[in-house]
Amino acid sequence: MPIIAPSLLSANFLALQQDCDMLNKSEADWFHLDVMDGRFVPNISFGLPIIEQIRKATSKVCDVHVMILEPEKYAEAFKKAGADIYTVHIEACPHLHRNLQQAKQLGMKAGVALNPHTPIQTLVDVIQDIDVVCLMSVNPGFGGQQFIPQTIQKIIELKSLITQKNTNTLIQIDGGVTLLNAPEILAAGADVLVAGNTVFKSENPTQTIAALKAL
Ligand code: DX5
Ligand code: ZN
Repeated sequence: MPIIAPSLLSANFLALQQDCDMLNKSEADWFHLDVMDGRFVPNISFGLPIIEQIRKATSKVCDVHVMILEPEKYAEAFKKAGADIYTVHIEACPHLHRNLQQAKQLGMKAGVALNPHTPIQTLVDVIQDIDVVCLMSVNPGFGGQQFIPQTIQKIIELKSLITQKNTNTLIQIDGGVTLLNAPEILAAGADVLVAGNTVFKSENPTQTIAALKAL
């Protein structure tokens, strides 16, 4: 069964408590929290104070996806705010290996996100240190975009790298995941589905989460 990680970027920020309660009662596994700095990506979302509040509202895994430059400067602060997984972008990390060790030393799982243009091969020498690889299936910055089809090939390639290196790394797909394309994404080897609009803009988010979980 896939791990389901609804993205709260598409939640109702004026009723965050209700959306957290809904997720708590649902079959969702992780809360996917998208932090944007307006520099690494052309959008600004939310940051530490919101994550601190969400942490109080759930005991589920807080999966923090930071789309920010110099993510190492904020790792400790995000840990204090309640992050369980700290996912940084490889494109923002000239010292990725050091960043991964830092996250682990702070007691978080270490995640790495790849933009659509970044090859899987960039992970060859570091895959054994990564808990979660987040493959961006849209250009990061916004919810509600179209899934980029080439992602399927990247999932297959990443899966084979993980098998070859014999690591426990999870493959997470982020962007444009729907009930229609999720079966193909999972068949290619994905473990974690992020879903923003598909969950929160659906008529019955709880049922949509259950339907994703049942795939
Ligand atoms: C995009 C974010 C995603 C986003 C996904 O930069 O990383 O997590 O919320 O939203 P959907 O599922 O609507 O594409
Ligand atoms: Zn994300």
